[in-house]
Formats: sequence, structure tokens, C-alpha cells
Amino acid sequence: MNRLTLTRPDDWHLHLRDGAVLASVLPDTARRFARGMVMPNLQPPITTVDLAQAYRDRILAALPTDMRFEPLMTLYLTDHMPASEIEKVKNSSFVQAVKYYPTGATTHSESGVTDLKRVYPVLAAMEKQDLPLLLHGEVTDPSVDVFDREAVFIDRHLMPLTRDFPGLRMVLEHITTRAAVEFVRQAPNNIAATITAHHLLLNRNALFEGGLRPHHYCLPLLKREAHRTALVAAATGGNPKFFLGTDSAPHPRQAKESACGCAGIYTAHAAIELYAEIFWRAGALDRLEAFASFHGPDFYRLPRNRDTLTLEQRNWIVPEELRFGKETVVPLRAGETMTWNMLA
Ligand code: LMR
Ligand code: ZN
Ligand code: ZN
Repeated sequence: MNRLTLTRPDDWHLHLRDGAVLASVLPDTARRFARGMVMPNLQPPITTVDLAQAYRDRILAALPTDMRFEPLMTLYLTDHMPASEIEKVKNSSFVQAVKYYPTGATTHSESGVTDLKRVYPVLAAMEKQDLPLLLHGEVTDPSVDVFDREAVFIDRHLMPLTRDFPGLRMVLEHITTRAAVEFVRQAPNNIAATITAHHLLLNRNALFEGGLRPHHYCLPLLKREAHRTALVAAATGGNPKFFLGTDSAPHPRQAKESACGCAGIYTAHAAIELYAEIFWRAGALDRLEAFASFHGPDFYRLPRNRDTLTLEQRNWIVPEELRFGKETVVPLRAGETMTWNMLA
């Protein structure tokens, strides 16, 4: 039996939502990960330390009593965030980062930033206070091909940001392209990236397998196979700038399957198992622990976890759907076989 014990991992990019659906999805994450960087794109968004504290309290209240999980909170950057809010973060122990969404780029990004220049005072305060900026790195310019949005963001926005704020720690979230891998590799050590399981497993053909596949629709979009293999090389290569962030982003089945289905793939139900499969296929299982459990805390200057998690190579079938408040969510690999399994 092929078994692997690793230091308990953390999920550095996670959507937990709120209310009844929060209670449905949280145990999937808490069973696997000690900590999660919780995204602030609720409606209305989590724009202040006070809102983050209240959201954190709701997450902890939704956690089953026999589980432990530490929500690491983020603030949603808007055109109107005052630099004084960054001051308040200093006195909070739980806000770990600020999240940038270009307005209109993805789910609940209506309140996002319209022009990075407008938030330069906030970014200056973050640089001074050494508070990391997390980037949904895509342009929304309609003249740019949707598959090129990330690469254009790097040229148009990320390069200037690294020049204007050389000391700012930044994470390019859910990278999908060779351009992003190359950029992060050659950038200074204050620039890192998260990589999702779905972008490591799927290329853009998965959007059209046997017809339109709305449950494979996510943003940034899946890309060509050459980009996927570049991501696998980055994740499994041992470079500390790349670490695990699932971007598990549940939506109700009906919303995904509607005429204008929303972006986001649910992977929390099998997150570490999916990454194990990717690393095993790449012949790099020995590097999974560093990617999943070391590089993230080291970048965020938080302690590595002390307990462990054990995986074994054993087949199991993912349910067709999972409870999601009063509705259901269709998880990645619904009805299909997983080759790695977590020991309870
Ligand atoms: C979501 O559904 O909240 C995510 O897809 C958003 C994102 O861009 O990560
Ligand atoms: Zn995003
Ligand atoms: Zn996300």
C-alpha cells in the first residue's frame, strides 16, 4: 500500500462563502487543512477589519466542535479603501492580506478596483507595513482575448507594481500560464504564486468534453496543455515561490448550469487528494509536502503546522453532488474515481 504522511497542509486561497452554505463546505476544508486564506468576495464584500472579524466569528461558529481550523482573513480592496484601514490591520491578529480584484473580472468583483493608480496610497501603506497584496491577475479590457487576460495583466500592471512598490509582498493567485510561471520565477523573493488543483489537472479541452461542461468553468479560464505542463513543473519543482491554493469556489448546481453560469470549481471535498494525484503522476510525491505545507507559511512568515496528515493510494468515487445549504454543489470529478484517499 502506497502511503504518504506529510505535515498538515494549509490552503492559501479559499472561498468559504457565508450562511448555510458556509456550514456545508467548511468541514471539507477543515478535515484536510489547518489554515485557510479566506477570500473576501462576499456580497457586500469584506472591506474592513471589523467586517473581517465578524466573518471570522461566523466561520468559527460554523465549524463542527470536533474540528480545528484557523481562518486567515483578507480585506477586499476597493477604490475607496482609506489607507487608515491598513493601520487598523496592524492591531488585528487575524487579517493576513489584502485582495485585489479588477472590477468585473470574476465572481462578486463589482466593487473591485477600477484603476490601480487610485489605490496607490493604500499600497504604499501596505508596503510600509509589510502586509501582502493578493492579486486576481487578469485585465478586463474587452479588446484583450479572454485567454490572454493573465499574460496582459502581468505586462500592463504587475511589472509596474513591482517597480513602484519594490518592497511589497505580492501573491499572483491561481496562476494559469507559462508567462506567469516565468514571471514569478525571475521576480525577487517577495513575489510568489498559488496554483490550484484544477489548473494542474485540466486544460481548456475540459470545457468542451462531450459538450459544454459548465462545472469546469472557472476564472482565470483553463488554458492550453503547454501551460498546464508549465504549471505542473512549477508546482512540483521545489521552488518556494509556488504554493498550494485551491481557489475552491462553490456555486449552487442551478447557478452553474444556468444560461449565464458562474465561474468557480469546487475542490475542497478532495483537495489534498487531487494534489497528491498530480504529484504522483509527475513522479514528485516527495515534493508535495513542501508545496502544500512549507512554502506558504514560510512566505507569510507564519509557523509551519506541527501535526500530520496521511494519504494512501486507494480508489474512491466522488459523489455526484454534495449538500450546499438548501441546494447542491457539483464537485470536481463528480461520479469519477479518485486514486488517493485521506486516512481519517
Ligand atoms: C469565486 O467564485 O468566488 C471565484 O471564482 C473568484 C475568483 O476569481 O477566485
Ligand atoms: Zn480570482
Ligand atoms: Zn478565488
